[in-house]
Amino acid sequence: MTWIKICGITTPEDAEMAIELGASAIGMIFAPSRREVTIDRARGIAEHVRGRAEVVGVFKEIETVRAVRQTVGDDFPVSVKLNSDDFRKGGFSHEDCLAVVARLNHERIDLLEISGGTYEQPRLLGVAGRQADAVEPRPSTQAREAYFLDYAAAIRRVATMPLMVTGGFRSRAGMEAALRGGDTDMIGIARPFCTDPDCARRLLRGEIDTLPAHEAGLHLARSGWLSPASPLMLFKVINVIGAQGWYYQQMDRLAVGRPPELGRGVLRSFLRHLWDELTRASKLQR
Ligand SMILES: Cc1cc2nc3c(=O)[nH]c(=O)nc-3n(C[C@H](O)[C@H](O)[C@H](O)COP(=O)(O)O)c2cc1C
Repeated sequence: MTWIKICGITTPEDAEMAIELGASAIGMIFAPSRREVTIDRARGIAEHVRGRAEVVGVFKEIETVRAVRQTVGDDFPVSVKLNSDDFRKGGFSHEDCLAVVARLNHERIDLLEISGGTYEQPRLLGVAGRQADAVEPRPSTQAREAYFLDYAAAIRRVATMPLMVTGGFRSRAGMEAALRGGDTDMIGIARPFCTDPDCARRLLRGEIDTLPAHEAGLHLARSGWLSPASPLMLFKVINVIGAQGWYYQQMDRLAVGRPPELGRGVLRSFLRHLWDELTRASKLQR
C-alpha cells in the first residue's frame, strides 16, 4: 500500500480529517510558519492519533531536530524539509544543501523532503522572482514536470535516509518515471490537495492520470506586463501572492464544508488574502 503523509496539521480535528481521507501519517511544522506548532500541542495531537497514523515533524534548525528526537524517542518518525537551492544570489546554495544533508546523515532522520526557492524566488511554486537576484535553475530542470528532480540526484548521492521530492508533480507518468529513475523514494504533492483532498487516492486507484494543476491558469495575464514574468515587481507579487491566496481560500472553503470555487480570480484572491492576513495579525496583536 502507498504511504501518504498530510503535512501542516495544527489541530486534532485536522488530524482526524487526514486519517479519514486515508493518510498513513500526519506532518507537523516546528519552523516559523502559519502552521507552526509547539512541542506540547504536537504531543497532544500525536496522542490523539496514536495507533492510527504515524506522526512526522518538519524543522528548521539542526538543534531543533535533535531536541525533538530526544523528546519523541527512537521509534518516532522524524522528517526534515530542505531547500535544494534558494535560487537567489547569496542565498542557500545547492552546495550548502549538500553540506547540510551530510550533517543530517548523523541525526537519525527518517525522511528528507527536498523542495526549493523562497518567497523572493518562489521556484517551489514554479515562478521566478526578481531577475537581478535570481540564480537560474538548470535548463534540464526547467524542462521537467517536477521542479527539483535534477537537484535530488546529487542529494541522493550524499543522503543516507529516504528522500521525497516535492514541487510540480502532477502526472502519474512523471511520478512513476521519477521513482524508476531512483532519484526520489517518495512523491511529495501540495497544491492539488487544496481543491481535491481525495485526488492522490483516485490517482493511485487508476481513476485519473493527472492531478489538478490550477496554477497553470492562476495569473492576471499569461505573458507581458501583467503576468508573473512582469518586469514590475508589483505585478509579480500580485500574481504570486494572489495564486497562493487562491489556494488558502480554497482550503478555508473545504474546511467549512463548502465546495472549492475554481473560478475565483487572482486579483480577488490577492485582495482577500491581504485582508485575511491583516485581520489575523491585528487579532494577534490585541
Ligand atoms: C497555500 C500554500 C501554503 C504553503 N505553505 C508551506 C509551508 O508552510 N511550508 C512549506 O515548507 N511549504 C509550504 N508550501 C509549499 C508546498 O509545501 C510545496 O512545496 C509547493 O506547493 C510545491 O509543491 P506542489 O507543486 O505539489 O504544490 C505551501 C504551498 C501553498 C500553495
